[in-house]
Amino acid sequence: MISDAPSAKSTMQYLTFEVTTRCNLKCVMCPHGLPGGYPGQRDADDELIDGIVGSLDRLDVLRPTGVGEPLLSSGFWRLADALRGRDKPKMGFITNAILLTPANVRRLADVPLRSVMVSIDAVRSETHQRIRGNDLSRTLSGIKNLIDMRRATVKDFWLAMSFVIMRENHKEIPDFVDLAASMGAEIVYFEHLTPLMTNASNWAVERDGWQFNYGEQDMRNDPRAADAMMMEAVARADAHGIGLGGYHVFLDPSLEAAHIDRPSRKRFLAVQGVDSRSGEGG
Ligand SMILES: C[S@@+](CC[C@H](N)C(=O)[O-])C[C@H]1O[C@@H](n2cnc3c(N)ncnc32)[C@H](O)[C@@H]1O
Ligand code: SF4
Repeated sequence: MISDAPSAKSTMQYLTFEVTTRCNLKCVMCPHGLPGGYPGQRDADDELIDGIVGSLDRLDVLRPTGVGEPLLSSGFWRLADALRGRDKPKMGFITNAILLTPANVRRLADVPLRSVMVSIDAVRSETHQRIRGNDLSRTLSGIKNLIDMRRATVKDFWLAMSFVIMRENHKEIPDFVDLAASMGAEIVYFEHLTPLMTNASNWAVERDGWQFNYGEQDMRNDPRAADAMMMEAVARADAHGIGLGGYHVFLDPSLEAAHIDRPSRKRFLAVQGVDSRSGEGG
């Protein structure tokens, strides 16, 4: 008999599930921002949430996520209430921070949190407004509420601030690292555009006289410009002692970052936890 064979009592470790597909924003690069919005928006049903609540003892990490805003859903708050006062599982989630109000943050104070990632995509208010259709100061207030709670409760979850790279915002990449450090984040997360279950070929959104066109905004089409900003971001992250995650170094020879000099490239890979020897081709 194999002693560690899965059994009814085995630990599942990570559970990532879509808690809602509803949202309170319409970011231009997200399917919610498309004309007509995201089809069939709904919350996870009670049966799913009941099942997870009944399985908490088997889990290490719970990640309510999805193409929606988790804090909008009653399922998220039912899980938070069920976790209150426990050590495990720890919860990690991604949010636009609008609902990180003082009252909601108080509600999270006794929940075992592992991580909170706040999506921002900009340093300038104008850019945030254009991409996320939201007031940047509202997002930053949510982060501040969270940081104040963490300080007051001596909790040890980490805060990440995330940035989806687009032509519109790529020049703000280095300053975003400074902003994250000044807010008290431990990690800054950068990611290229991905289609997120949508056909990106004719993705165009009009907002306040500006047109978001997926193909034009995708910086994978201009890796040299994106990588140059990322190299500056690495330097700023080093200066602040803050972690950097998420960015992809292209291994396709036609896209490979040949324009990044070898020492920088090594550093780049090391930041991401990749063994730099394998990245150097031996
Ligand atoms: C879909 S959102 C859901 C969570 C929450 N509503 C938020 O915005 O943080 C999860 C993450 O996907 C990112 N995202 C949205 N559209 C994207 C796209 N087209 N490509 C890559 N990331 C995207 C968001 O910026 C966010 O960090
Ligand atoms: S990126 Fe997040 S906040 Fe923005 S529309 Fe999509 S789900 Fe909502």
